[in-house]
Amino acid sequence: MSNLMEVINQLYSTHSATREELKELILCNDKKVLDYLKKLAVKVRESVYGKDIYLRGLIEFTNYCKNDCYYCGIRKSNKNAIRYRLTKEEILDCCKEGYELGFRTFVLQGGEDSYYSCEKICDIVRSIKSSYPDCAVTLSIGEKERSEYQAYFDAGADRYLLRHETADETHYKKLHPPKMSLAHRKQCLYHLKEIGYQVGCGFMVGSPYQTVDHLVSDLLFIKELEPEMVGIGPFISHKDTPFANCENGTEELTVKLLSIIRLLLPNCLLPATTALGTIDPFGREHGIEAGGNVLMPNLSPTAVRKKYMLYDNKICTGDESAQCRQCTELRMEKIGYQVVTDRGDFKRS
Ligand code: SAM
Ligand code: FES
Repeated sequence: MSNLMEVINQLYSTHSATREELKELILCNDKKVLDYLKKLAVKVRESVYGKDIYLRGLIEFTNYCKNDCYYCGIRKSNKNAIRYRLTKEEILDCCKEGYELGFRTFVLQGGEDSYYSCEKICDIVRSIKSSYPDCAVTLSIGEKERSEYQAYFDAGADRYLLRHETADETHYKKLHPPKMSLAHRKQCLYHLKEIGYQVGCGFMVGSPYQTVDHLVSDLLFIKELEPEMVGIGPFISHKDTPFANCENGTEELTVKLLSIIRLLLPNCLLPATTALGTIDPFGREHGIEAGGNVLMPNLSPTAVRKKYMLYDNKICTGDESAQCRQCTELRMEKIGYQVVTDRGDFKRS
């Protein structure tokens, strides 16, 4: 145990650890060690971002997807999913509402939907940026050609979220159909970085067939890529997918990994995700108290929220955006943090 305390001290001072050390830390269940890990993660978080919580308004603008990821509720083969697309006007209405509620980042997320051509996405990004020049636009629309990423960037997109899902090739193949590859996903992440986006990678915690060694590979990959954002959340099964009967990831492990990621990348933007709030009513609070500094309340029109079901029992699908916004602020106040009206960019040190 004392050895693990040293590992945590070393993570704190050098932001690095070996494969064996990370593995031991992930496997550790000693409360004293875990409390210390959390304490240092919060210390680092506060030294960079204080007690501020950055908000991202999530606009889930399409649930059409050409992919068939085995875990995902909006996969192409799910015939029970009721499909929808938002028009540019509907997306702009979400931004208007969001802006009034104090959001200064809009995240456009969707399945891989070829209906939204490169020109359409650029047009949407340009419209948002011209109406709200003080806001950041984040895209999360999957794997694209480098030229498309460049076009979105030139249109004004600031950030891009593309979780790598798992950094282990064999594990990746167990989660995705043969035509998807980890190598391509990683290539996309490097293209995004080269272009100049603030980039986010990430993975699901407790996804089917995941081992501790896979998690260590995820952490080492994150360290190597040095993204500005890291999105992790527990895997939660969806009843209409091949993984319907698989066990969900746990809150404990997700929270522990959030702290480790905070120590590995002190400046990263680290959300306490909706999935974390779904497996535990206080999951988001616990994520923030473990070193997270971002929340992503839903800004999608209430009419479509239930249709963007990536996993069962997703929270906030019946709420209005204003309710989510207020709820978020109160929840953060209760644990001593403050939601801020700010673009919430990555801080370089
Ligand atoms: N199509 C884009 C992409 O592939 O990056 C963005 C949308 S995708 C649905 C967003 C993320 O949802 C994925 O990266 C995945 O990690 C997460 N996700 C999908 N199914 C999930 C599940 N059953 N439990 C938890 N997270 C899930
Ligand atoms: Fe569409 Fe995975 S199946 S994002």
